[in-house]
Amino acid sequence: MADISKIDGEALARGVKVLGEGGLVAIPTETVYGLAADATNGEAVARIFEAKGRPRFNPLICHVSSIAMAERYVEIDPLSRRLIDAFWPGPLTLVLPIKENAPVHPLVTAGLSTLALRMPQGVARDVITMLDRPLAGPSANTSGRISATTAEAVADDLGAKVDLILDGGPCPVGLESTIVKVEGDTISLLRPGGLAAEEIEALTGMPLKRLDQRAAIQAPGMLASHYAPRAAMRLDVREVQPGEALLAFGPIRAQDAENVSYQLNLSETGNLREAAVHLFDYMKRLDAAGVATIAVEPIPHEGLGEAINDRLARAASPRE
Ligand code: TXA
Ligand code: MG
Repeated sequence: MADISKIDGEALARGVKVLGEGGLVAIPTETVYGLAADATNGEAVARIFEAKGRPRFNPLICHVSSIAMAERYVEIDPLSRRLIDAFWPGPLTLVLPIKENAPVHPLVTAGLSTLALRMPQGVARDVITMLDRPLAGPSANTSGRISATTAEAVADDLGAKVDLILDGGPCPVGLESTIVKVEGDTISLLRPGGLAAEEIEALTGMPLKRLDQRAAIQAPGMLASHYAPRAAMRLDVREVQPGEALLAFGPIRAQDAENVSYQLNLSETGNLREAAVHLFDYMKRLDAAGVATIAVEPIPHEGLGEAINDRLARAASPRE
C-alpha cells in the first residue's frame, strides 16, 4: 500500500525530498489530486505514464509556483498575461510557446513546441516553491478511470505505484482545470474545467472559441472514453428504469424516489459548484454498488455545467 501522510511541515518536507530524488508523489490541488513528478527529470516523468498505465504519451500539465518560474519555461503574450493575473493561482491552465532550451523534459510536452502550465493553490504550490522546480502532474488515477478527489481514492486506485500520498482532504473544486490557448486575439477553450468559461469571457469581454470536443482534439489527452466507470452511463434521464442507479441533480422528484434503490444527489439545491465537487466521488460510489447502469439527470449547460457535462459525456461514450 502507498504511504499516506496528513499534511504538516514534516510531510511536506518528505514530499519535496521524494520528488527531488525522482519519485512520484500524489498531491492535492484545488481541482483534483495530481500524480506529481519533477518535470525536468525524464525518468521521473516516465514513471507517471507507467503508474497511470497511459496507452500513449500525451503531453502533461506542468505546475509552477510563481509567474517568474513560468517565465523560465514559456513566452507569455499580453492576453495570456491578463488571464494569469486574474486567475492564478487557480483552476486555469494556459498552453504557451515553450522557450528554446527550457529544461522541461520532452516527455512532458510529448515533443510539442508548447507547454501547458498552471499555478495551483495551497499545498501543491508550497511543494513547488520548496522544490524550486516545476511539477508535471496529471490526475492521480489509472488511465481511463475516474479522477481522484480524495487521498483514499488515490490509494485505492494507484496503491504502491506512488511513493507518497499527501492527504489534504477533499479537493474544493473537484474538476480538472480549464485549459485555454491564446492565438492572436482569440482564446480557444481546449478543455472545459473548474473555471467557468463565462468568467474568462467576463474578464476579456470576448467569447471563447469552443472547439468541437469530438473532432481533432487539440488537448490530445482527451480520449473520448476518459473517466469511465464500469457501469454503463445513461445521460439526460428524466425517467429512471428499474434496476438503474441514479445520479440525481436538483430537488428529488417523487417518480425517482420510488423507483430507485440506490441514488446520490450531486446537489439537491441545483448548485453546479457543489455538483462539481461531488461528481467523481459519486460516480465512483454508484459504480462500486455494482449496478449495470447509472442514470444521470439533466445538468444545465452553463457555468461549471459545461465541464460536468463534458466529463459525463466521456464517461458515457463507448469504451475503447
Ligand atoms: O486540474 C488539472 O488540470 C489536473 C491537476 C492535477 O492539476 N491536471 C491535469 O493534468 O488534468 P493532465 O496532465 O491530465 O492534463 C492533460 C491535458 C490533456 O488533455 C493534454 O492533452 C493537455 O492537458 N495538454 C497538455 N499539454 C498540452 C499542449 N502542449 N497543448 C495542448 N494540450 C495540452
Ligand atoms: Mg486525468
